[in-house]
Amino acid sequence: MVTDTQVLRVPTSPYMDQRAGTSGLRKSVDVFKQKNYLENFIQSIFDIREQNEGKTLVLGGDGRYFNMEAAQIILKMAAANGIGRIKVGQHALLSTPATSCVIRKHKTDGGIILTASHNPGGPHGDFGVKYNIVGGNPAPESMTEAIFAHSKTITEYKILDTPDIDIDTLGEKKLGNMIVEVIDSIADYQELLESIFDFDGIHALLTTKGFKMCMDSLHAVTGPYAKSIFEKRMGAPSGSVVNGVPLEDFGGGHPDPNLVYAHELVEIMYGKNAPNFGAASDGDGDRNMIMGPQMFIVPSDSLAVITDNAHLIPGYKNGIIGVARSMPTSQAVDLVAKALKINMYQTPTGWKFFGNLLDANKITICGEESFGTSSNHIREKDGLWAILFWLNIMAATGKTVNQIMYDHWRKYGRHFFLRHDFESVDLDKAHAMTEALKQLLPSLSDKKYGQFEISSGTDYTYNDPIDGSISKNQGIIINFKDSSRIVYRISGTGTQGATIRLYIEKYEPDNKKHTQDSQEALHDLTALAYELTRVCEFTGMSQPNIIT
Ligand code: G1P
Ligand code: ZN
Repeated sequence: MVTDTQVLRVPTSPYMDQRAGTSGLRKSVDVFKQKNYLENFIQSIFDIREQNEGKTLVLGGDGRYFNMEAAQIILKMAAANGIGRIKVGQHALLSTPATSCVIRKHKTDGGIILTASHNPGGPHGDFGVKYNIVGGNPAPESMTEAIFAHSKTITEYKILDTPDIDIDTLGEKKLGNMIVEVIDSIADYQELLESIFDFDGIHALLTTKGFKMCMDSLHAVTGPYAKSIFEKRMGAPSGSVVNGVPLEDFGGGHPDPNLVYAHELVEIMYGKNAPNFGAASDGDGDRNMIMGPQMFIVPSDSLAVITDNAHLIPGYKNGIIGVARSMPTSQAVDLVAKALKINMYQTPTGWKFFGNLLDANKITICGEESFGTSSNHIREKDGLWAILFWLNIMAATGKTVNQIMYDHWRKYGRHFFLRHDFESVDLDKAHAMTEALKQLLPSLSDKKYGQFEISSGTDYTYNDPIDGSISKNQGIIINFKDSSRIVYRISGTGTQGATIRLYIEKYEPDNKKHTQDSQEALHDLTALAYELTRVCEFTGMSQPNIIT
């Protein structure tokens, strides 16, 4: 029995900075460890929920530093707030896609994911909290704004006065009146993936003599999932998954699957005797990177290939309804949608904008240039899903990664695409840059710069076709008459100053030019992007920190 004496009502003072960004509340560990910082935010979630009494929630995280401690606090707070049951991943581990899957499968009333995604971890790294709603979708902006507003006025939080509970052994236990059900972190999710993909076909591919794959889990959450799926279920030789043990600080690395941070994989895939297939995933398992021998698949291209080949996958054999991409993502998938005669929706950056389209059954597949792709099987992006998708295409067609990509470009033309990130920029300078660009926009229409002719410059506002909500200030797009684009926006996930993102895209129909290097192909357009945005002048930086 929970008696009132066990429920502590702890007085607290509000913090003014608990507004969720593109994907949850993400701050440095130092910020999260401030007195009552986590507690305030969690209590704000419970306070704005319609009902807590007797409800079931899911709890898990990516295993980063502070994951365990935070999970214990949240369990005690959930019990004190009247939650009936929490399904918690063993050792408090659940990837983001697995959490969405468990919420959906067991029809729970939402869930909490402890992650700062691809940001570094450890005592000096980042931590984060994401709240997902019924159906497994990330909380919509209206809700994260309500949580934020509440967090600025909070005066107390509720917590159970009780020792930590064992979440390392499977099974049900009691915490006050609440049942804590420690679940296998992998089972439900693997079962869902097995219902979509031809696991036996991929098994045959992975056990073909001479076939080698390398999955780099970057010491983050997908390690145990990848070992279970590829090595145990599909017979890939042990060692096919590297860096497969989740570590609190990701082994000191940056758990972001791209050419810079997944350099170990990149060296293997560009080295001698490269494996036939390479892949990586991020901190919480929602991002993916796909590689062939000496080849990197641009995520925007991956979305297009996945859409074009969906009919080969058992779970999508009846065709797809529609597709969506975030605004900066290249228009490669637009051409596929046109060929398939399905609708293509453009949404602002951030997975939460796909939720309404998925729920309303307008789209089956969606993706972002930032290494995220997924479908209506859950309501988050899904790294292992994308990796299995490529393996399934390979198994079904007998083609290599590189053949699949070149064949696609031959059919549709190639969209060269690169993103330049300028990190830790002074906030005032970033805002001044945005303002200057907005001022410039009206004068850009029909202007010519060498070979490039601008059609329009727009400040991107999204009108949600399902609920009519309007999201303003979602980035600036400079459109060219040949369908090239320059996109500018400020990141909503950075934790230090502002991160400025410049996206550069150019369409190349000529097959003979498809082997060109992206930086080379985009050289002139990049120079123009720098000139128009005056990015070096505003940031005081001569080059970006990272190009992906
Ligand atoms: C970044 C990506 C975005 C992705 C988000 C969460 O957000 O650009 O596509 O949804 O991380 O993984 P940003 O920092 O650009 O706001
Ligand atoms: Zn992530």
